[in-house]
Parts: sequence; structure tokens; C-alpha cells
Amino acid sequence: MTENTNKPKANTLWGGRFEGGVSDIMEKINASIDFDKVLYTQDIKGSIEHCKMLADNNIISAQDGKAIQEGLKQIKQEIEAVEFTFSAKLEDIHMNIEARLTEIIGPAAGRLHTARSRNDQVATDFKLWVRDACDQADEALKALQMALVEKAEENIDVILPGFTHLQSAQPVTFGHHLLAYFEMFTRDRDRFKDARKRLNECPLGAAALAGTSFPINRHQTAEALGFNRPTANSMDSVSDRDFALEFMAAASISAVHVSRLAEEMVTWSCAQFNFIQMSDSFTTGSSIMPQKRNPDAAELCRGKSGRIIGSLNSLLITMKGLALTFSKDMQEDKEATFDAVNTYSLIIAAMTGMVKDMKVNKDKMRAASNVGFITATDLADWVVRILGLPFRNAHHITGSLVSLAEKKGCDLDGLSLQEMQSVEPLITEDVFSILSVEKSVESRISFGGTAPSEVLKQVKFARERIG
Ligand code: ARG
Repeated sequence: MTENTNKPKANTLWGGRFEGGVSDIMEKINASIDFDKVLYTQDIKGSIEHCKMLADNNIISAQDGKAIQEGLKQIKQEIEAVEFTFSAKLEDIHMNIEARLTEIIGPAAGRLHTARSRNDQVATDFKLWVRDACDQADEALKALQMALVEKAEENIDVILPGFTHLQSAQPVTFGHHLLAYFEMFTRDRDRFKDARKRLNECPLGAAALAGTSFPINRHQTAEALGFNRPTANSMDSVSDRDFALEFMAAASISAVHVSRLAEEMVTWSCAQFNFIQMSDSFTTGSSIMPQKRNPDAAELCRGKSGRIIGSLNSLLITMKGLALTFSKDMQEDKEATFDAVNTYSLIIAAMTGMVKDMKVNKDKMRAASNVGFITATDLADWVVRILGLPFRNAHHITGSLVSLAEKKGCDLDGLSLQEMQSVEPLITEDVFSILSVEKSVESRISFGGTAPSEVLKQVKFARERIG
């Protein structure tokens, strides 16, 4: 049985009115130090700027201010040298650092928390951390986009079947297919940038929830920490976790894009498709079947995207019923967000590597594209353009020709002119000039279309937009 007695170990940071200590179970459920210690950089940075501001505004003495800042810098070094002992009894990173500061500089440490609460402190630390995560996501996506553009350019005129309903629809170029993902990742980068813009207001100085009676300068701390301005409402400041939700929403959408590309890679690399070969670096062998090359990294990208979406859901559900302002439920924000950030950065890095390494089997793609009457739309378009018939009639005529070819067991260009004319007497020899997959893709020159000439323009445009 777990021991559940109240031992006298009142917390010295808030223990004034507490006689007994907390139970072991309370300590366990309450402590966040195991995961929030990663916030130490942000916590110390925030504390140093808060301390400077307090001293500049004569809220604490210059001497105490100096001692506090030096103590905080020493703590940072101790943590980085792995000499710092984190304690679950001190709950979280904020109290661990403050307790150590007291050990180092004595009672003056107690002045650091003037005009501040852990509520605005944690919101500030966490925002700074998520802000960095937005910047890192942008950098990582940029690398992935560069890999995609390179591959797209190399494969500008490689033809493969384009699918709808996973049925061969129209031939497309592989460069074009890859640039579709470029567009998704462009929107993802915009979403992270947009989330960053919105989060960039500083909660520090909101104190517990109501602001403070001390003559603080919130603009000073906001600016020093790289925020655009202080948050405008103290209650919102300590209860807002939109920034973490927005990061995870952007990461979830982006992870869905990664997952779709991963799914395509899994399919493309199977023996039946054999469109691509994935490198040794991102595949594994089977312990029993020597012929196998399993696309594990792609499968894990697909799988881990679920975890990111799960983290978003977890925090949305945590937040949805909370009255203003801070409630301890909100401490659950961190593990979900940290996991989402780490998982996201891993899948983007893996996808970048897979795209770079991927070998394209042009011949297999080309051969697979010439099936399933894939140029039927080209034939219908020819009937409209050359014979001047309405598209609906052309569609009908082409349908009959497909059916004829199906009966004959050949492709559309396997039909003789006579057979074609048995369906539509106006058809001429010229029709055979548009039935190849090459002619088909070459003709798709509309803006954003699949023609190699157009894809080349899109490659250039993509490069301009990468930034
Ligand atoms: N560890 C807490 C968190 O992660 C810090 C804020 C605690 N505030 C409080 N009033 N208990 O959110």
C-alpha cells in the first residue's frame, strides 16, 4: 500500500499557513519538475529581466537586484553542468530555481517574486518556449521544402499516373506531384508564423490574475524578452494557452501532410508499384524475409502524426471547461506540447531525409501511367477542340470508345481509325497525336498545371518563396 499520511514537510515557499506537509501522493500528482525543467532557460531569462525591471523602478534595491541576477546566472551554469539537484518536493522549475537562489544569496532571493506570481511566470516561460518551437518548425519545414524542390526539378518530366479515388485518372509529372507537398508545407509555415505573431505578447506582470500594486513597467520586460507588447488583460494573461493550442493545431495539420506523403512513399516503394526506392538510412530489413526493405521511417511518420493530433486534443479537452483564471489543470499543457514539438521535429527531419534519399524509378512510373485509358480526357478535349462538339457529347463519345477498347482488350491508341469512326464519323487521323501520355502532360500548360514547362516555372516560383 502507498503511504498516505500527512508528514510535516510544509513547503517553505508557500508554507506560512500550513502546519502539516503534503502526502506522498499529493507530491506525486502535483509535481511537474520532471518535465518542466526544460523551461529553465526561459525561466531564468524571464526572472533576470523581471529583476532588472524591479531594480530600475526602485521596487528592489540595486544591490539585491545584482545579487539575484548573479545567483540566477550561477544556477543556469549549474543546470547546464548537470550539477543541479531537482527536487519533486519543490514542485516545479520555478520553485526549484527560487529555492536554490535562496541557498546561494540568502533572503534577498525572496524579493525576486515581488509583483509576480507563478501564474504569469509560467505563462511567460511557456510562451518563450513555444515561440522558439515556432521558429524551429519554420526552419525544419524550409529544409523539407528545399529537398522537395530539388527532387521536383530532377523529375520535372517523369510521368506517372495521377489518381483520383486511387483509380488512374490522368498522367502527371512527378515534379508536379512533389510540388503539391511544397504548397502544403508553405501553408504550414504560414500557420506557424501566424501563431508566433499572435503569441508574441508578454504575460509577465499580470501577477496572480489581477495585476499588481507595485509600480512595475510591463513594457520594459516585454521588450527585453522580445515580445511586441505586454498582454492587455491580466486575467487573460494567466489563463490563456491558445499559443500552445495554435502551435499544436498547426503541427497537426502539417503532420497530416507529412502522413499523406509518408503513405504515398509506402505505396510507391512496394514491389507492386516499385516507383521509388527508399534508402538504407530510412528502411529496415526483415529478420526472416531477406528480400524485404521495410519503409519503417515513413510508417512512423504516418503513425506519429496521430500522436501530435492526440496532444492537441488532450489540451483542448483540458482547457474547455476551465473558468477564469488559472487552474492547476493547466499544468497538463506541458507534456502534451513538449511531446508534440519533439515528435513533430522528428517526423519533419525524417521526411526531409527520405525525400533527399529517394531514388525514382522513371521507367516503372512511365509504364504504370499508360494504363486504364488514362488519356481519355485528352481524347474528349480533342473532340471538343477539333470537332467543335460540346464537352458533354465529347465525354459520351469518349466513353463509347473506351468501352470499345475494353472489349477489344487494347488501349485507346490500339483502336484503328475505322473503329473510332464507327463511334464518331468525324474523327480523323490527327486524334492519334494526342493519345500518348507525353502529349497529355505536355498539353497541360494552364497555370499550376502538370506540363513540364509549367512545372519548371513552378520550381522557380517555389524557390523564390522558400525565403
Ligand atoms: N507548475 C505550474 C504550471 O505548470 C506553475 C503555476 C502554478 N501556479 C499555481 N498557482 N499553483 O502551470
